[in-house]
Formats: sequence, C-alpha cells, structure tokens
Amino acid sequence: MAEPPGARACANTEQAAEWDGPAGAHRTRYAAVFDAETRPHNERFRAATGVGPADHVLDVGCGTGQTTRDAARAAGAGRALGVDLSAQMLEHARRISREEGLSNVAFEQADAQVHAFTPGSFDVAISRFGSMFFADPVAAFGNIGRALRPGGRLVLMVWQARERNEWATAIRVAIAGMRTCRRRSRAARSRSPTRPWPAASWRPRASPGSASPA
Ligand SMILES: C[S@@+](CC[C@H](N)C(=O)[O-])C[C@H]1O[C@@H](n2cnc3c(N)ncnc32)[C@H](O)[C@@H]1O
Repeated sequence: MAEPPGARACANTEQAAEWDGPAGAHRTRYAAVFDAETRPHNERFRAATGVGPADHVLDVGCGTGQTTRDAARAAGAGRALGVDLSAQMLEHARRISREEGLSNVAFEQADAQVHAFTPGSFDVAISRFGSMFFADPVAAFGNIGRALRPGGRLVLMVWQARERNEWATAIRVAIAGMRTCRRRSRAARSRSPTRPWPAASWRPRASPGSASPA
C-alpha cells in the first residue's frame, strides 16, 4: 500500500510506541550513563566494525548515536547514517554530533525493517543492541541486506541467551540469594527467637592444628 507523502513506513508499531515514547525518553535522559556502561563492549564492537576511511555506514537502531559518530570519525571521506524509531533519541544524536563538529553524519527516523533504503548504497551495516526487536527478522535483515552493496558487511552486537548473559543472571542470582537469606532468617527466628542463626552457621571454624575450642 502506498504511504501518504511525509508518512513513514512502520511495521514495528509496538516497538515504536515504546522507543518513541517512555523508553526513548529514559534512554535520552541517561544517554551518557548507557554509553559509559557499554564502554568495554563498545571498544570491541568498534574494532569489529572495521570501518574504512571511505566507507558508507548504516547504523541500525542507532539510538543516541554514539556508534554512528564513531563510524563517521573512522570514515572521514565517507559517511554514516543512523536510523532509529525514536525521534527524541535522534534529536539528541544530532545535537551531540553538531557539538562534536561532525559533518559526515546524518540521522533519520525510520523502521529499518521496511524503510526504503537506496539499494546497494552502504559498505557496512552496524548495530549495537538495535537489531533484536524486529517483528519480522527475516524481512528486516532482508531489507538491510538490500541496502548493502554486494560483498558489504553486517556487524552486530547483541545479547547472548539470557542464561549466558551475566548482566541479566547476576541480578537474578543476587535477588534469589536475598530471598533464600530472608527465608533462612525467618526459619531461624521461628526456631529460636533469641538467637538469629543456627549456632553452626556462625561459629568460627577452627584452623587446622589450632587449639581453640570448637
Ligand atoms: C537498546 S537501544 C540501543 C540504542 C543504541 N544502538 C545504543 O547502543 O545505545 C535499541 C534501539 O533500537 C531501536 N529500534 C528498535 N527497533 C527498530 C527498528 N525496527 N528500526 C529502527 N530502530 C529500531 C530503538 O528505537 C532503540 O533506540
């Protein structure tokens, strides 16, 4: 179906409502914090993108644009385009790029799954945590693939499965630990209201050969 002039094609309306709404506002407000949090990963990602001095780079789900700016700096004689669903995040990305004096970078509000990119117009497509939300990943990666020239590259940074993701599991393990602790504490209190823990769990262990009383 033809889009009315000025309208943007969007196949990810729920994601757009979030990212162009509260999630986008939060990420924009704390952009510096999020960028700092991912710094160690970002160094590896930047190296992996291998952007050359004349490359044309597409940054998918660029958010507030740190990776787009990195790509633009690496492609001094080329250019970088960041696309995202969030108008607020893109506005932030544009402002920082202006402040940093970058002239070969642009940002566009677009759904990467269906946006009409010029076919074959990019040497490399990159995405830092922006390619995990497509309603139809096959259609989305097909669309991104058509935007790449033959032999172009795709470099993604994505989370691993939840159980292999320390960032997610550490929080869950810590919360589970707190719950176990509280349960044990309640059980111990109900056994002996005057002693918070069973004696064996807090008595200092005698070191080998020590004469201290057990
Ligand atoms: C977790 S944020 C990551 C933002 C940025 N790449 C970064 O690393 O800071 C995910 C981003 O993907 C964008 N996004 C999700 N689905 C998208 C789509 N179909 N097309 C374009 N951007 C999309 C969101 O708007 C959001 O800004």
